[in-house]
Amino acid sequence: MAAAASPSSAPQAPWLPWMRRALQLAALGEGRTSPNPLVGGVVLDAAGQLVGEGFHARAGESHAEVGALAQAGARARGGTLIVTLEPCCHHGRTPPCSEAVIAAGISRVVVAMADPDPRVAGGGIARLRAAGLEVIEAVAEAEALRLNRAFVHRVCSGRPLGILKWAMSLDGRTALPNGQSQWISGPEARAWVHQLRAGCDAVIVGGGTLRTDDPLLTSRGRRHPEPLRVVISRSLDLPEAAQLWDQALAPTLVAHGPIGAPEQRVYTARAEATCALLDRLGVERLALAPCEPARLLETLAARGCNRVLWECGPELAAAALRQGCVQELAAVIAPKLLGGLAARTPLGDLGLEGLDQVQPWRDLERRDLGSDLLWELESPEPPADHAELTPMGAGFARPGSAP
Ligand SMILES: NC(=O)c1ccc[n+]([C@@H]2O[C@H](COP(=O)([O-])OP(=O)(O)OC[C@H]3O[C@@H](n4cnc5c(N)ncnc54)[C@H](OP(=O)(O)O)[C@@H]3O)[C@@H](O)[C@H]2O)c1
Repeated sequence: MAAAASPSSAPQAPWLPWMRRALQLAALGEGRTSPNPLVGGVVLDAAGQLVGEGFHARAGESHAEVGALAQAGARARGGTLIVTLEPCCHHGRTPPCSEAVIAAGISRVVVAMADPDPRVAGGGIARLRAAGLEVIEAVAEAEALRLNRAFVHRVCSGRPLGILKWAMSLDGRTALPNGQSQWISGPEARAWVHQLRAGCDAVIVGGGTLRTDDPLLTSRGRRHPEPLRVVISRSLDLPEAAQLWDQALAPTLVAHGPIGAPEQRVYTARAEATCALLDRLGVERLALAPCEPARLLETLAARGCNRVLWECGPELAAAALRQGCVQELAAVIAPKLLGGLAARTPLGDLGLEGLDQVQPWRDLERRDLGSDLLWELESPEPPADHAELTPMGAGFARPGSAP
């Protein structure tokens, strides 16, 4: 038995194809595992033959390693486990996976990335090494971090990862000067948005979009349960009839400021009436102080949301950006000209005073959706959480983490 808990110097390249298979398996859980990460794993027997595959399908269900080991059965003895995330070492809703790996008689574990969850943070790998297993780390680490960026962001920042999406014309308008906006994009783009919602835990709009568009905000059945639909409203001057109030379709949360707050002065009676209506319809309410995007996200993270979609208008979108609530953009650009100086654009004021303050967002992907163009980008700011992650060989540079 090896006693030392040192990083392995074994070559990583031979494990890459198996790790890519494990990453494919992990991705099958997309949109269903929050607050947990996406995890996939494969088991090879002592002769290197594939004998087990598994992935984490849903929060509360078995972890990827356990599924792959169960499929392998006794053939796992003396074999190799290739897994996209460090096996856990704590008792959560399921027992620690590191113990299951040891009990199955696995002799080598190949891991893509360490688990940033402070309850694990290197402890799972240390436990495996202490039991004499060889551990090879950081195989396809960048791909694994990319796949689990929402989970990592939530664990490290205390907020879900935010995607801001809008549809606009070629000349940057999101509505005609008279306010008409449905539909700027084509059917393929709208179907893609349903898919995007299915990968998110919550979809957020402001009171303005609710009043103007009466949106449905569901994935049209692509995800079960549907993502939480969230409205932020300071005034609570919201319509009596709205598709979002239909709780049989999907749950809705209305986040608002304290009743009687200055922004409701004109509307206090209206705000009280809205509260009574929402309570009668069984629509959940959440009082925030202050009623701001950042505060909302902290609450959603505590409820286990890893990824949220901002589908709001310019006012709330600008506030979300200013408060660091947006890490990715998805712009659908239609080959149409709407014109009009008074026409809406995707963003309100960002408080910028010089172009030297403006950094380009990083290209993620550009592709066609029917006749529209989808351009996905990520923030120019390196996420604070990722900066804390060092290559796995060196472990996590976070206070209190296991070596
Ligand atoms: N093309 C697209 O992709 C797209 C997407 C969404 C919306 N839109 C269009 O955008 C227009 C609506 O624009 P909008 O700017 O009024 O919508 P919005 O940004 O969705 O809503 C703004 C509202 O959000 C609430 N809010 C709560 N906290 C806030 C904060 N800290 N900062 C800012 N707002 C906060 C306020 O609601 P209360 O007033 O209730 O207090 C505010 O009036 C519509 O014409 C809609 O069609 C276009």
